[in-house]
Amino acid sequence: MAVVGILVICLSSSLCLYFLLALIRVLHTLWWTPIRIQYQMGSQGIKGPSYRLFNGSTKEILNLKKEAMSRPLGLSHDILSKAQPHIHSWINKYGKNYLQWYGPQPQIVITEPELIKEILNNRDSTYPKEEVKRYVKKLLGDGLVTSEGEKWAKMRKLANYAFHGESLKAIDIRSDFQDSFWEQLLGREEHFSDDDEIGFDNIEKFLYTQVSWHQDANASQKISVQDMVDECKTFYFAGQETTNSLLAWTVFLLAIHTDWQEEARKEVLNLFGHQNPNPDGITKLKTMSMIINESLRLYPPVLAIIRKAEREVRLGKLTLPAEVLLFIPNIALHHDPQIWGEDVHLFKPERFSEGVAKATKNNMPAFLPFGMGPRNCVGFNFATTEAKITLSMILQRYAFTLSPAYVHSPFQLLTLRPQHGVQVLLHSL
Ligand code: HEM
Repeated sequence: MAVVGILVICLSSSLCLYFLLALIRVLHTLWWTPIRIQYQMGSQGIKGPSYRLFNGSTKEILNLKKEAMSRPLGLSHDILSKAQPHIHSWINKYGKNYLQWYGPQPQIVITEPELIKEILNNRDSTYPKEEVKRYVKKLLGDGLVTSEGEKWAKMRKLANYAFHGESLKAIDIRSDFQDSFWEQLLGREEHFSDDDEIGFDNIEKFLYTQVSWHQDANASQKISVQDMVDECKTFYFAGQETTNSLLAWTVFLLAIHTDWQEEARKEVLNLFGHQNPNPDGITKLKTMSMIINESLRLYPPVLAIIRKAEREVRLGKLTLPAEVLLFIPNIALHHDPQIWGEDVHLFKPERFSEGVAKATKNNMPAFLPFGMGPRNCVGFNFATTEAKITLSMILQRYAFTLSPAYVHSPFQLLTLRPQHGVQVLLHSL
């Protein structure tokens, strides 16, 4: 009996000890570490909304977003307070750099150009990308957007070559290939199950069969079929939604600024007449480049660029704790009157008449639709060329105005989207 008693006491004490240790661990993660980081950053002048147990700032962010979505916006381009109301409100309250919380995960929101340059131009892996969730990896593949280190360097070199200006001159051939590629993929849709997991696996199998022929004989250039599959997914998902967003907002802007629509059409007809756009003409579309840049400034498809401080690190005069996320809301810089002037919220493509460097007065982080530094958008040329071709072909055929049915409500769902679509009235020319 005595032995059983001792065993019971030992077991219950071990259980108690286990629960105590687990509790200490939970408290350490959910309470002690956030409070310590809040204090550490506060003492360096980086303030922010108080950390709340479990939620961090997420509840406040959701409430602010809900409230913003219920407010009508008219046709104003002053969209920061609508699309990212927490950032708008907290930059005003706490300053250019502040601390917010995604649950217990600290995020330092950074809008000071010098710090942004230091983070995004870094080449020694001090500020890697944040680790992506499993489902995001499944969607994007372990391709350029998410990979790091040697794998990233090798794939980036190949991608730089593929997206180089000269390579893009074959864009018509490529788009034909893409159409048939995705048509085939969609044509097989009936074989996919409704279950996402199985659907993705099927897409992956399909990509395997399609790309296995594309193996380079030169061993140093060789990439695995898995790499090819991952890059196909990456380019599709990184390129599709973003370019859609750019086109939607540009059509919206031209539909309400018909003087610029007319200017753009004149340029297109001068260069191409009623023929399909050609590579040489595309490089000469100056007015259209200005319009696209102004559209990307007011309505950037990607609203923020995120990095992580891998270890404790010095950034400018700040000491950042390890594992803190660095959140760069490019949309806030694009809408900053201190950078762009009092007319910051007006659509004025003429800002870009002498190029991006002049428009930003060589302050590169002022305009970051495609990021900057070694991990900037590899598809930048492809995306702008695609947009120029599409807009040229629309302008050659139609004049368009905004439909009275349109409701202006830019909101974020991965990219910056028009919540209810962009309805326009097309007038055949
Ligand atoms: C208007 C259209 C687009 C916008 C606004 C855009 C924006 C961006 C931004 C801001 C980044 C940097 C992300 C970061 O630093 O964390 C990025 C990276 C990337 N983009 Fe785009 N993108 C566009 C179109 C495309 C297209 C068409 C492709 C491919 C066909 C593409 C492929 C990529 C890839 C692979 C990366 C990761 C590059 C790396 O980490 O080395 N993007 N994009």
